[in-house]
Amino acid sequence: MTTYLDLKMPDPVFNRFARFIQTTCGIKMPHTKKIMLESRLKKRLRSLNLSSFEEYEDLVFGRGGQHDEVDLMIDAVTTNKTDFFREPEHFEFLRESALQELLDYYGWGIRKPVRVWSAGCSTGEEAYALAMVLNEFAEQTAGYRYTVLGTDISASVLETARRGVYQERLIDPVPDQLKRKYFMRSRDRDLGLVRVVPELRSNVNYRRLNLVERDFKLDGTFEILFCRNVLIYFEKKTQDVLLNKLFDHLQSGGYLFLGHSETLHNFDLPFRQVRPMVYRRQD
Ligand SMILES: C[S@@+](CC[C@H](N)C(=O)[O-])C[C@H]1O[C@@H](n2cnc3c(N)ncnc32)[C@H](O)[C@@H]1O
Repeated sequence: MTTYLDLKMPDPVFNRFARFIQTTCGIKMPHTKKIMLESRLKKRLRSLNLSSFEEYEDLVFGRGGQHDEVDLMIDAVTTNKTDFFREPEHFEFLRESALQELLDYYGWGIRKPVRVWSAGCSTGEEAYALAMVLNEFAEQTAGYRYTVLGTDISASVLETARRGVYQERLIDPVPDQLKRKYFMRSRDRDLGLVRVVPELRSNVNYRRLNLVERDFKLDGTFEILFCRNVLIYFEKKTQDVLLNKLFDHLQSGGYLFLGHSETLHNFDLPFRQVRPMVYRRQD
């Protein structure tokens, strides 16, 4: 029987995976991440009943290319940490000033629906939190319309996002009034699960999209773009290319939200910072 605990990934195998992950997903894979990669891929080895990393390498890169396994490998190497209303100031800013101002100034929401994009949405908490804020605003504003799109490279997180079923403790950060309105409890209380209500789910679409793909196909522009805690995994050159693409997909006057340790400081793009990690396209 294979003892996975002692299994080590040889350097040449690591280098091959690291190169592939970096070019395909943009995710930096320096040698310091070897232990992390090893432990994440061990889970794949275990479920496939393989006894060495070389066998796994053959499976992923061997002739015929196991496409399904490449997807599962990507699922295993991405970091999907997220929360409902993570970095809550961003949602407050939308609720308390940005949405009203975009409506007053441009008519966005009435003249045309506000399009919101959560890029790197993971299991959907960010996209649903955005939908709650917009829905609350819509209920107070006659004729207001919005749509939310969540995209991610990982197929398995998108499956969770589409289902909209979460452990009840995960909705702790959601304000009580929104919890009551936007979540249903599972009939079997012992399961401790909640589900996003269908009315909210129907305003949120999810699709798979690799942000580092040369020219990803995404129609039109967005008024509000969240790309938080994604850029940190990429090298500066990859960040630069991606930020230019995000810029092209943002309406002039629209807002870009980044994660707490991400900044546009070293990038030459016409954005004006309006709050911590909140930027406005200004051109
Ligand atoms: C740490 S999570 C951030 C989730 C959410 N935006 C938040 O801030 O809570 C990063 C997400 O980016 C996704 N990701 C990583 N590389 C990507 C790529 N090349 N294209 C699209 N998504 C990617 C990962 O799968 C993961 O779900």
